Amino acid sequence: MRNYLLLASLLVAGPAMAVVGGGDITFPVQDPGKAVFSHQAHVVKAKVGCQECHPKLYLDVAQSKRFTMKQMEKGKSCGACHQGKRAFELKACEKCHS
Ligand code: HEC
Ligand code: HEC
Ligand code: HEC
Repeated sequence: MRNYLLLASLLVAGPAMAVVGGGDITFPVQDPGKAVFSHQAHVVKAKVGCQECHPKLYLDVAQSKRFTMKQMEKGKSCGACHQGKRAFELKACEKCHS
């Protein structure tokens, strides 16, 4: 059922919304520190469409699947794009972790 909720929010979402998509998402990581995903930076600045990430790569925070950096290197989660071509590579730890 939750999938339907996310799809519904994808349909009503638009540039007029105060918060873009799901807003800022914080992934807690001990070391090297939390990673923050910004919808604003991806959707508005980099012009990545909702459908490129939803629902195939991500649903929502409540249904978050956790991935390791090793899995990302193989193309999961952020690693679907952050491989140095479409978007900066995974070696740039400090761009995502703080
Ligand atoms: C580049 C990838 C990407 C794009 C593009 C993207 N999202 Fe997301 N979205 C995410 C990630 C990552 C999460 C967090 C998922 C998780 O925790 O597993 C998320 C979560 C969400 C959530 C749930 C937030 C919560 O607190 O549970 C909503 C709603 C959402 N996105 C809507 C949108 C909409 C609407 C768009 C287009 C305007 C969009 N997203 C575009 C990656 C993206
Ligand atoms: C494109 C953004 C991005 C880059 C670059 C990145 N990370 Fe991550 N990293 C994340 C996200 C997001 C998570 C949390 C993923 C989850 O929980 O699903 C994470 C999780 C982790 C974790 C916990 C999971 C695991 O693999 O053990 C560690 C440790 C980590 N990162 C270290 C690093 C290091 C070291 C670098 C640089 C070599 C790096 N990260 C580069 C986004 C990034
Ligand atoms: C569908 C492709 C895609 C996915 C998935 C994706 N990104 Fe990105 N990301 C991009 C693109 C394209 C850019 C803009 C080009 C660049 O900065 O290299 C970008 C830029 C960024 C930036 C720089 C933001 C800024 O202010 O300029 C950060 C930080 C980032 N991504 C983190 C993440 C994290 C963390 C994840 C996983 C949770 C993730 N991205 C998943 C495509 C993606």
